[in-house]
Amino acid sequence: MSHEVVEKNVGLLAILVILVISVGGLVEIVPLFFLTDTTAPAPGVSRYSALRLEGRDIYIREGCYNCHSQMIRPFRAETERYGHYSVAGESVYDHPFQWGSKRTGPDLARVGGRYSDDWHFVHLNNPRDVVPESNMPAYSWLGHNTLSGADTAAKMKALNIAIGATCPSCELYTDEDMANAQKAVEGKTEAQALVAYLQGLGLASKQW
Ligand code: HEC
Repeated sequence: MSHEVVEKNVGLLAILVILVISVGGLVEIVPLFFLTDTTAPAPGVSRYSALRLEGRDIYIREGCYNCHSQMIRPFRAETERYGHYSVAGESVYDHPFQWGSKRTGPDLARVGGRYSDDWHFVHLNNPRDVVPESNMPAYSWLGHNTLSGADTAAKMKALNIAIGATCPSCELYTDEDMANAQKAVEGKTEAQALVAYLQGLGLASKQW
């Protein structure tokens, strides 16, 4: 009988639906705010160096995340192929995170150290030189474009705000980091920055 009242009164139905969804959502989300596992860096995970930070920005600019996830699920088929499944504490320095949602290519969360730097330079310049059947686009300009580093320190400053707000136990960039940032990246090619970024992905997980 009371159910009939709800079904015949669309306003009441809407209010009750919103109430049920909100409670369900809060029960799932709120506990995560208080779990340090999700807001503290996992062992071995540290803030990006200046060069890796620039590399990460190139990864985002070129849309690599459209074809590559950085999120290994805790399933045997995934952990045997890639390594330790991804944990929240690996992403505490990532704003925005690069989990992705599509795998046209393989997951990259554990790609650090899998290939040599030279392999990556050749692969980025023309993937088919090392993987003949690859349908990954060539990013040949990355080897020619150089970085000025003019805004690297500003990027660190901006990241400090995001990291400071979400991760109380994270290390922020220091004044010294910012003072040395431009020197660390100036004149490097975009490919060098991107490869530095890739070569660090998942290294921490090797010690878990
Ligand atoms: C259109 C989809 C697509 C885009 C965009 C793309 N890739 Fe790929 N990527 C692939 C495919 C497919 C493979 C597997 C074949 C190969 O190794 O080339 C791959 C392989 C890779 C590998 C080797 C991974 C492994 O474990 O063997 C790396 C590293 C990589 N891509 C990096 C990048 C980076 C960095 C970018 C952005 C600059 C990028 N990819 C953009 C499709 C893509």
